[in-house]
Amino acid sequence: MNKTSMILDVDTGVDDAFAVLFAALHPDINLLGITCVDGNTNVDQVVANTLKVLDAAGAGDIPVARGAVRPLLGVSQYAEYVHGADGMGDLGIAPSTRKVDPRSAVELLRDLIEGSKDPVTLVPVAPLTNIALFLRAFPESAKKIHRIVLMGGSASAGNATAAAEFNVWHDPEAAAIVFQSGVPITMYGLDVFMRPGITSEEAIVLKNSTAPAAQFAGSLIEAFIERLHISPITLGDFGAVAAAIHPELFTTEMFDVVVDTSSGPARGQTICDRRDAFLKDLEPLGLEDSAKVRVVMDLDVEGVRQLWLKTIEKGRF
Ligand code: BDR
Ligand code: CA
Repeated sequence: MNKTSMILDVDTGVDDAFAVLFAALHPDINLLGITCVDGNTNVDQVVANTLKVLDAAGAGDIPVARGAVRPLLGVSQYAEYVHGADGMGDLGIAPSTRKVDPRSAVELLRDLIEGSKDPVTLVPVAPLTNIALFLRAFPESAKKIHRIVLMGGSASAGNATAAAEFNVWHDPEAAAIVFQSGVPITMYGLDVFMRPGITSEEAIVLKNSTAPAAQFAGSLIEAFIERLHISPITLGDFGAVAAAIHPELFTTEMFDVVVDTSSGPARGQTICDRRDAFLKDLEPLGLEDSAKVRVVMDLDVEGVRQLWLKTIEKGRF
């Protein structure tokens, strides 16, 4: 299998950490770089967390760039109640000695996409502020993105609000720009996000492993379960990375999608037109700004879980 050249955009975040570990360790992924954005916590904390995850993965010199400090129009609204005061489980890990890339997130995206000999898959698992800014700042480079597989949105209920998923709700204007960009988009949203779970028993097995990545993942899972008092917990953002390299594990449907950027109760909702074809023909969506989006509606839960577990247990050492 050819390697998939990939860039992650993250707001690390416990489940972002699951995604970064996997992308850094999986042999079929060529992880070109990581861009960080304000989301689960402030962007400086996101950068610090991401560098620590790369340490745990034993990753090589993968560039990590600092991105947007706030949404395009709204105010930052952090999820520390879910992810901890440091945004990543409050494990008390010493800071990484890795250096942050001196380029901004949009500059790093431009350079990596322009410099790649292979098509680049962009996997944002965070609010879409960096990606929207990149699309606007460097439209010619943006045309070279092979595709975007993003964690965000929902064709059903929300989580941040009744209607909206956190990443889209945090910066709906950015999400609207990305969805309307014309880049092929696969949306890994809340319809499937919670389903591949990991238990406290599995966390203990990981902690007892000899691979540092597995030990780190086990500690994160344990802290997350203690904080939220639920087991299993979701592997979350990792699912979007899995969907990018193992599409056979996922079932998708094409929908016309509109991001609600109003200030009403549906702000941040991804309205997916799931009506029967004959109704759509009778009365189109009624909104000019819809985009055709491939939405993940089902998945092989055990296949996805095992993909993550096997990759993390193997480690790099
Ligand atoms: C998304 O919000 C964040 O808290 C998670 O990291 C994930 O990207 C889920 O709505
Ligand atoms: Ca995230």
